[in-house]
Amino acid sequence: MKIIMAEHAGFCFGVKRAVNAISEALKNNPEVWTIGLPIHNPQEVSRLEALGLRVAEDESEIPSGAKVLIRAHGEPLSVIEKLKARNIDVEDMTCPFVKKAQDMAARLSRENYYIVLLGDKNHPEIKGILGHIVCDNNSGNQDENTKNYHAVPSAGNNSADIEHNVFAEAAHDANANFSHCDDSSGSVEGNISVKKAQGSHGNSEVVANEEEAEKVSRHTRIALISQTTQREERLSKVAGILTRKTSELHVCNTICKATAERQEAVRELVRNHNVDGVVLIGGRASANTAKLRDIIQAEGVSVLWVEEEKEITENINWFSDKKTIGIAAGASTPEWLIDRAKINIAELQGS
Ligand code: F3S
Repeated sequence: MKIIMAEHAGFCFGVKRAVNAISEALKNNPEVWTIGLPIHNPQEVSRLEALGLRVAEDESEIPSGAKVLIRAHGEPLSVIEKLKARNIDVEDMTCPFVKKAQDMAARLSRENYYIVLLGDKNHPEIKGILGHIVCDNNSGNQDENTKNYHAVPSAGNNSADIEHNVFAEAAHDANANFSHCDDSSGSVEGNISVKKAQGSHGNSEVVANEEEAEKVSRHTRIALISQTTQREERLSKVAGILTRKTSELHVCNTICKATAERQEAVRELVRNHNVDGVVLIGGRASANTAKLRDIIQAEGVSVLWVEEEKEITENINWFSDKKTIGIAAGASTPEWLIDRAKINIAELQGS
């Protein structure tokens, strides 16, 4: 059996940077917290947990005075402000490419663009970007301390009810200056504008695909910002649709190179190497690994998606009719896991 490795596979720059920072922080702290899983790879998370990593579902679980690392996906500003207010040592490891999308969302919303985010509305990266959008469209001259940002639920919270609770919490925090942008009417508590969460944001919305982009209403100015893991073709198609919804469209291609490189590498693997199937290594919850699977399947090639090496021997029959196989891995797959999988595949040849 011939084995061909995709040219780009495994940890991307942003994930490697965040995981290295967690490992470093654990050398000097008995425990280090993250909000949500730092990486969509259970085996790597287990390795870090054994060193002292604690994963909180929500920022409220983190004890005052603790150390927290903001993972590569980023967090809404409201969450970071709440942590700092509780004297928690925050080290921001938001991937610089995600940070760029957050900064663009902040700047363009301040410039009165209606923000359309292309991505998965339940993904923490999209929630983080939403949490940087400046709600007050008259805020162009405001300084950093008086801006209003979307307060959005933190990792793991998806429902509108939870979202509403977050706004209520923010309202009762005397130092908070968060508001939720929504077209519906709301109440005012103290100096804080609290508007009802009804699943839409007054100056932004998230679209998952072309069909949802068709439903976007007309706006004077629209800025299209992409989740970093989106595909270029979809961004282009959505941009084409939005040109009919406005006379001024600002398209931010915030798709990161690492994602595009891994996607291009699997395309190259299945198109140019006559592979009979591809072993794809990555966590089941990894969005970028799921996109690699979609690309391989769209080329009509069989995929064996494994999270850990033992699944290779468990699926020995998949290999039986294959002469050439490719190996690919998502951006959240550690190198040690790829190496183990490669060894297991090589051992199959001797079995
Ligand atoms: Fe960053 Fe791209 Fe990785 S956005 S976290 S380098 S997939």
